[in-house]
Amino acid sequence: MIALNRHYADLKDSYLFAHIAQKVSAYQRANPNKSILRLGIGDVTLPLCDAVIAALHEAVNEQAAKESFKGYQPECGAPFLRQAIANHYRAHGIELKDDEVFVSSGASDELGDILDLFDRSSSALVIEPAYPAYVDANVIAGRRIVHLPSGRENGFLPEPSEEVQADLIYLCSPNNPTGAVFGKDQLQRWVDFANEHGSVILFDAAYEAFIEDDNLPRSIMGLDGARSCAIEICSLSKTAGFTGTRAGYTVIPKELVRGGMRLNDMWVRNRTTKTNGVSYVLQKGAAAVFTPEGQRQIQENLRYYKENARILMQALDEVGVWYCGGKNAPYLWLECPGGMDSWQFFDYLLSEIQVVGTPGAGFGSCGEGHFRFSTFGSRENTLEAAERLRTLLA
Ligand code: MLT
Repeated sequence: MIALNRHYADLKDSYLFAHIAQKVSAYQRANPNKSILRLGIGDVTLPLCDAVIAALHEAVNEQAAKESFKGYQPECGAPFLRQAIANHYRAHGIELKDDEVFVSSGASDELGDILDLFDRSSSALVIEPAYPAYVDANVIAGRRIVHLPSGRENGFLPEPSEEVQADLIYLCSPNNPTGAVFGKDQLQRWVDFANEHGSVILFDAAYEAFIEDDNLPRSIMGLDGARSCAIEICSLSKTAGFTGTRAGYTVIPKELVRGGMRLNDMWVRNRTTKTNGVSYVLQKGAAAVFTPEGQRQIQENLRYYKENARILMQALDEVGVWYCGGKNAPYLWLECPGGMDSWQFFDYLLSEIQVVGTPGAGFGSCGEGHFRFSTFGSRENTLEAAERLRTLLA
């Protein structure tokens, strides 16, 4: 009989966000007249900006005419998009070669796929609370996971330590779920640590566009020595509303070499084997994000979500609930009131005021007692959720 990947048995029954969706659907079926406000999964609600929509339409029209029709796209990304992304980095003072940028269909896919580069005997360090896919993707691969808990005492930004070592180091900044952002010096210490130990940092920059403070690094690639130890994975999901459209990119510098093998070359080999690239239409839409008009328009949408954050923060301030995040990140991370654990608080909010959030325990055991709200809801729902929270928790 065929042997299956037995590590699936080590996973929880369902993925965090799928589990929440099931619970919410069951509640809605039992209570069809209740209006549920979803501040759980970080799913955007504003439409794609005009520049992206125009580019997508144009690309569809090109695909409709024999003269302009395009077949397969290069597996690692269309040159026009790789160049647009590299130029965007250059505009922020970070030199990248176009072929150090790989176009992807989003960060989640890439965070799982990139593990193909590393032997299964390698270990992975995950700072918790963390986006649950980091852990689950490594569980599936049967990799040893080193959990590094963080908390309020270190602002959810732990320092590297000789006692906690691993081959792969996940860093997410701005952090999902806590909203904590590494300062330049702190991030530099992780880069130095990775170079000293031969580790590779997988830097998840999915929320970089939410950073308001110019002193905070939006990319790891600007730090000294990052080019020899880091891979940056980014997404247009939250930056430009692509959660349902799907596009992202990964930066693998040419200097990143381990055991005599260059990871950039390996990823080219991987992509040319395992994908046929991202669709031409989507890449045209993605390229529009990096035009001056696209950049201006996505800022309008980001401002809208930031106003949602302000509305929720004000409500939490008024009812005296401790929280962090919300300023340089689109998530609020709060303490569950009344000593409730995070799934109790989830059930309490759902049953009493029909507001959905994400229980902190879903981001690792040290997230217990905490809860996450997404600020990606509609204005109307966010205002209504803030009002219901005020009434319930006053
Ligand atoms: C989240 O809610 O943490 C994210 O939206 C999930 C994701 O990006 O896959």
